[in-house]
Formats: sequence, structure tokens, C-alpha cells
Amino acid sequence: MIIKPDFLRGCKDAPMKDGIMKENDSTQKQAAVPAQKLTAIILAAGQGTRMKSPLPKVLHPVAGRPMIERVVKAVQKAGASEVRIVVGHGQALVRSVVQNWGVACFEQKEQLGTANAVLAAQIEALEGTVLIMNGDHPLIKDQDISQFLRHFRDEKLDLALVTAVVKKPAELGRVIRHHGELKTIVEVKDASADTLKIKEVNAGIYIVNSEVLKDLLPKIKNHNAKKEFYLTDILSLAIEEGYKVQGIISKPTVAAGVNTQIELARATRYLFKNKIKSLMESGVMVLDPNTTYVEDFVEVGPGSVLYPNCFLRGTTKIGSYSVIESQVFISDSVIGNSVQVRAGSYIEQSQVHNKCSLGPYARIRPGTEIFEEAHVGNFVELKNTKFGKKSKAAHLAYIGDADIGEECNIGCGAIFVNYLPNRKKYKTVLGNKVFVGSDVQLIAPLEIGDEAILGAGSVITKNVPAKALAVTRAKQFIKENYVPKDSESASE
Ligand code: UD1
Ligand code: MG
Repeated sequence: MIIKPDFLRGCKDAPMKDGIMKENDSTQKQAAVPAQKLTAIILAAGQGTRMKSPLPKVLHPVAGRPMIERVVKAVQKAGASEVRIVVGHGQALVRSVVQNWGVACFEQKEQLGTANAVLAAQIEALEGTVLIMNGDHPLIKDQDISQFLRHFRDEKLDLALVTAVVKKPAELGRVIRHHGELKTIVEVKDASADTLKIKEVNAGIYIVNSEVLKDLLPKIKNHNAKKEFYLTDILSLAIEEGYKVQGIISKPTVAAGVNTQIELARATRYLFKNKIKSLMESGVMVLDPNTTYVEDFVEVGPGSVLYPNCFLRGTTKIGSYSVIESQVFISDSVIGNSVQVRAGSYIEQSQVHNKCSLGPYARIRPGTEIFEEAHVGNFVELKNTKFGKKSKAAHLAYIGDADIGEECNIGCGAIFVNYLPNRKKYKTVLGNKVFVGSDVQLIAPLEIGDEAILGAGSVITKNVPAKALAVTRAKQFIKENYVPKDSESASE
């Protein structure tokens, strides 16, 4: 069995020739570029040794989404009609994560290098243009790729290599030029001290004519320090053989490959920062942008306020004028307008309508819908429950598998007992204006009619009709001037 983790997101332009793109180029919306058939090959078979993690590298999440998902979605949006993913290390898990994305997986049996990985993608029958990308570049955007493709086609190139000039090139392959003309790429392990000073790096994105790829790929040798077949060698081979080759100089984020946990955190930080900036630009009040975490697909309406340390995930949508206080975690949920979510609350796969107030410390579990102006207070847990308009559960309650009508009051300590010893779950249905006293246990399945009252401390096992009072309390008796037996004998 495969165990999946739960998430399963200032350099100056170089004085060189080739296509130079400015930092903001990719923000301009441009259509995909479908001229010829475009096949994308994404390399994802490597072990990712430098991550020091048992999870295959490309599955590590960047702002909540596996990095390979970001790469696949970007190439698909940019117009790739076919996506081939080369898998190897941890392939069972990688295959299970990508299986519904309309991609095909190809096995690289031994991880003999990036050129060998491309060969594993069975390139023999490919036609048209081939876009090859490393699977560990999560910050790539479809607009970036569209621009590279446009350049490749406009210039009628045989091979385009995407590069970037970065402040700290670290372990990225260095781009060697002679009088501005591209020559070759040198990997760090093979580089001299002088080569290591070069700031232009290989971004791991190659666009190549399929016939040129078929011609050159088998010619790549493994004559290097790691004894691997480097895809980067395709550059010098193409130049030697007289093909039309250009570098496309892009922005640093395009070259932000993730090889270590530090680079992973940096990529995530980058996406969070950008998201917070765009939210603020659209009128959301963020009290501390440095400690507010919002994933890129989340929407927040103008006039809403985000307190420090809230975390908004997945497909969450929040309306206008809502307040999300500190330590609140919201995942894949819809929150309406003017909703107050107080500190420490945790909401998953649920819907909260306008003007509700939740928490502090409310737990809203999947399948819950809370209607207008309802109040769910501290230490109240709701699961798979419809909680009616203007109803209240102010403190300390568990409400599971229930339909609660409008204007009900659920007292402190109430428990909806939904899980029985037969290991099945049952439902409780409350009409409108039902009063559930404190410390009541409702043993499902149950139906409680409109305006019924359940007396405090009762254990309710049978349906209660509308407007009835149900009490199962033991009778209270009083012994006046009572002296406990032990104290009688002690005084003798
Ligand atoms: C590679 C480039 C380097 C570039 C950098 C950009 C080579 C030789 N070097 O280095 O010039 O600056 O990317 O990020 O290509 N993979 C396989 N099979 C293999 C080996 C790797 O599928 O046998 C995959 C990995 O899973 C990864 C990608 O190829 O997604 C790149 O491999 P990685 O080891 O990260 O290469 P880098 O050292 O980053
Ligand atoms: Mg890498």
C-alpha cells in the first residue's frame, strides 16, 4: 500500500545577446502558443539526495502543492498537448499522485543522468516541438513557458536554452559564453574556480525540435566528474553540428531549482509573499504580511482582515468584511461575508455563511455547513453537520452527523452521540427553536421536533415531538441535617 502525505508551491540583465526578458514579463497574460504539436517531457526520476527526505523530491509541497503539480499544470496551460513524466525513484508514489492529470509516466530504470532520463521517455516517435523541463522548478509559470515557446518559434530555432542571471548561483550549471555567444554548460563538480564565478546559470528548461533531439541525445557521453549523461551537453553538441541555438535569458525565479530543504522553504516563502502582496493590492488588510500564510489559489474579498499567523489553504474562499484572527487554520472551505473567525479555530472542507461568528477555538470538520448569523463558540466541534440560521452552540459541545434547524440553542457540554458500539454512525435531526439544555446526550438516530426542550443532564434515546419537554434526570432528594455514617462512628 502506498502511504500518501496529506498534501498530496535582483540581478541586472546580463550584457549578452539572445532573448532577454524583464522581471515582469510573465505577468502579462498571453495565450498559449499552439503552432506545432508540443510534447513536454518532465524529468522526475532523480532521488533528490540533497533533500535528505524519504519523500521523492518532486512530491515535496511548495505552498501546499507538490512541486511536480506546479510544473505539470504550467506546461499544460502553456499548450503542451502531451506530457510525459520520467519517473524512477519512489515511482509508485509519484505515479499515484500524477495519475489523474492526463499525463503518461515513463520509467527510467537507473538514474544515469538527465540525458538518460529524456531517452527513457521514448523519444523515437516524437514529432514537432519538445519542451524538456526539470521537475524541481516549482516557480515556473505558464506565461513564462509561453514566452519561451514564442521566442523559439519566432526565431525558428532548433534548440533554445533558458538561462538566468542570479546573485547566488550555488550548485546550478554555469553557462559559458565566448564574446557573448553561447558555448556550453559546465556543472559545478566539473567547474574551475573561474567558471564558478559566472552568474548566468542553466534554468533546466530546454526547447528543441524533435528531429534535433533524436539526432543529438544518443550522442551525449558521460565524460564528467559524476559519470552521468548530462542533458546539458546537448547545447555544445548542437552548436558543433551547426544547429540554430539561442539562450533565452529569463528572470531568477525561473532558475530557482529546488534541491534542498532550504531551497524548498525559500520557494514556498516566495509564493506566500507574492500572494499576500496581491491580496493587499486588492484591498485585504493584512496586519503582518511576514507571518500570514495564504496559498495561491485562495481568494479573500476586499475589506477582510487577516491577523498574524493565520493559515489559509487549498481552495478556500473568504468573502468581504470577514475577520480571520490569529492561529486560525482554514482548508478548502468557503467563508461568507462579515464572518468573525476567532483565534485558534480550525476549519476544513466546510461552508460558513454570512455574519456567523466562530471560536475562539472552534473546530469545524469536513461536511459542515453553518448558516447565516449562527454562533459556534469556544471548544465546540461540528462534523458533517448542518447548523441552522441564528442557532447557537456557545461552548463545549460535540455535534456530529446532525441537521440542526434555525434558532436552536445547544447548551454547554451537549454531546451528539453519533457513533455506536456497532461501529456505525447515525444522524440526529433537530427542528427549529429547539432548546438543548447543558450536558444533554442525544443518542442517534434521533428526531427532535420544533420548539422541543431537552432538560439539562438528560440522556435522550427516543424521538421527542414538537413543543414537548424531555427529561431523563434522576430525582433529587434532600435529607435535612444529614450526618454521614462515618462521622457518626468517629464521634462515639
Ligand atoms: C540540473 C542541470 C543544471 C541546472 C539545474 C537547474 C544537469 C546535468 N544539470 O542540475 O545545469 O542548472 O538542473 O535546476 O542536467 N533526473 C532524472 N533522472 C536522472 C537525474 C535527474 O529524472 O537520472 C531529474 C531529477 O528528478 C530532477 C531533474 O532531473 O527533477 C534535475 O536533476 P537534478 O539532480 O536536480 O539536477 P541539478 O543538479 O539540479
Ligand atoms: Mg535540481
